[in-house]
Amino acid sequence: MGRLEEQISRGIQCLRRGGIIGFPTETVFGLGADAANANAIARIYEAKSRPREHPLILHLGELRDLERWVHEVPTSAESLANKFWPGPLTMILKAEPNQGREFRGDNNSVAVRVPAHPVAQALIRGLGNGIVAPSANRFGRLSPTTAQHVSDELGEKIDMVIEGPTCPIGIESTIVDLTEKVPVILRPGHIDEKQISQALGQEVLTVESKTNKAPGSYPVHYAPNTPLTVLYRDDMEKFLHNDANGISVAVLGRSKRPYFSSAAVWQVAPFSPAAYAQNLYGLLRRLDHSGCDLIAVEEPPHRMSWFAIHDRLKKSSIPKIALAEFIKSQSRNNLNHDQI
Ligand code: TXA
Ligand code: MG
Repeated sequence: MGRLEEQISRGIQCLRRGGIIGFPTETVFGLGADAANANAIARIYEAKSRPREHPLILHLGELRDLERWVHEVPTSAESLANKFWPGPLTMILKAEPNQGREFRGDNNSVAVRVPAHPVAQALIRGLGNGIVAPSANRFGRLSPTTAQHVSDELGEKIDMVIEGPTCPIGIESTIVDLTEKVPVILRPGHIDEKQISQALGQEVLTVESKTNKAPGSYPVHYAPNTPLTVLYRDDMEKFLHNDANGISVAVLGRSKRPYFSSAAVWQVAPFSPAAYAQNLYGLLRRLDHSGCDLIAVEEPPHRMSWFAIHDRLKKSSIPKIALAEFIKSQSRNNLNHDQI
């Protein structure tokens, strides 16, 4: 047996015994538990420090497996499944009343996805049951896209991580809510609004990302530890020169570092939206560990293909109104350190 197959079979045994495991999907790494094991599901919430009111996604082997969990499979769900499953699409459907209370809480709906990643598929099939899995990060942090990220995030709190081939998409699945008359995209992703509305033959709505509501409050989702801001290319140097006030800035740029730049660190991001998404969280983690006071991301183009990336950057950002305040406090700190 190869190393990967051996890990998968250990993973299946672990899930059977009520363990929780990190595993790759085509989007990001999940933290999985047997959907029938209430105790293991509780451990997921504990390991992530995730409040119980946030429901988990149920990962299934194929469309047919929905029946047990979903009250009635609408034709819209069948159309989307035929087109996009297995793949990076999660559907919110009306739940079968007595199933899945442990991971969907008091919601009448259940989130389901059939992942395409061979490791995820092998685990589900081997277990012979659905696997519930949130992204394998601590609550509110960036999703992991390598086994190392999972270990850094959750370490001893989980039973094992499957190393396997990693995550080709790199950002979390598109979530579409099919419980109302008009489908609503709750979280944008690799599969975009246009593809979904084409597959359904009807208009769909999108929900504006809900973060950064309160001025001065810190980001609540997908955030690195280091505060992050998004700036237009033309504003970047002006910001570094005039506004950064001596704090050290790590830039995630779209092109080469200008020779005159005063950024402490300059990382060039991949050019295409697909490669950018695939590498985004890994690069943000690297910049997060660079020791800089602030991460400044150069604003990507405003086209449909970048929509999900804008959403994640927005969810990672410190509110604009808090930025000046943050820089002021940080440069004061730096000054104090210098004097000691
Ligand atoms: O790509 C993904 O979806 C990854 C991989 C591991 O599959 N999973 C993931 O799970 O991103 P998580 O838990 O990090 O994000 C799932 C989101 C949460 O924001 C949760 O609130 C929402 O889905 N969700 C789950 N069940 C829901 C429901 N019944 N109604 C509305 N939102 C729901
Ligand atoms: Mg998550």
